[in-house]
Amino acid sequence: MKTTGGSDAEKRAAGESAAEAVEDGTVVGLGTGSTAAHAIRAIGRKVDSGLDVRGIPTSFQSRELAKEAAIPLTSLDEANAVHLAIDGADQFSGPHLVKGGGAAHAREKIVDAAANRLLVVADPSKAAGQLDHPIPVEVLPDARTTVVDDVRALGGSPSLRTAERKDGPVVTDNGNLVLDCDFGEIANPAELADDLSGLPGAVEHGLFVGMADEVHVGTDDGVDVKRF
Ligand code: A5P
Repeated sequence: MKTTGGSDAEKRAAGESAAEAVEDGTVVGLGTGSTAAHAIRAIGRKVDSGLDVRGIPTSFQSRELAKEAAIPLTSLDEANAVHLAIDGADQFSGPHLVKGGGAAHAREKIVDAAANRLLVVADPSKAAGQLDHPIPVEVLPDARTTVVDDVRALGGSPSLRTAERKDGPVVTDNGNLVLDCDFGEIANPAELADDLSGLPGAVEHGLFVGMADEVHVGTDDGVDVKRF
């Protein structure tokens, strides 16, 4: 599994803190990444102790982890509501997030946006005064070159994400490609999010504007919970 940022102990503290918010009889969105993985394992332990929940995975990775943890699964099609989602982030500034370091941001955004509450789990290295992390944009393969041009016209610097143990590009769970688009410091995340959403062939981008209800930041001394 891809890991970035802080220590595993910090990620674990964050994930376990957010998992405490999962209540009996609810549907929970299961985020992707090394920090959300700790939340999934903690929810699995609660299921083992009798908690009745159903999870909606946001990626191949979170589905596999949830199956290992014996969390009963459902889908957005089948569930009447998503009570809570727990997900990681590559960077956060207040309730605004950059996601998609694991190329799962399209499904993550659908599930996180459908949830009544989104709890983000992070280590302290993910905090920023102003977002400046490159924004992953998932693109249809046929739209790669046109979206590259469009991102440049918006002032960004796109680069095709390449795989580490395969020649060629990363291919998402949805069969698409990812452009990591560097815009430097992002003064107006909402405006950039709208611009990226309007690009033909861009399936989804990793700017999650104002979406976090809480950010659980794990540290060696405990967990700092920020509420928005
Ligand atoms: C997956 O595509 C991402 O949005 C992850 O949630 C994000 O990259 C955080 O992952 P880590 O917790 O592994 O840093």
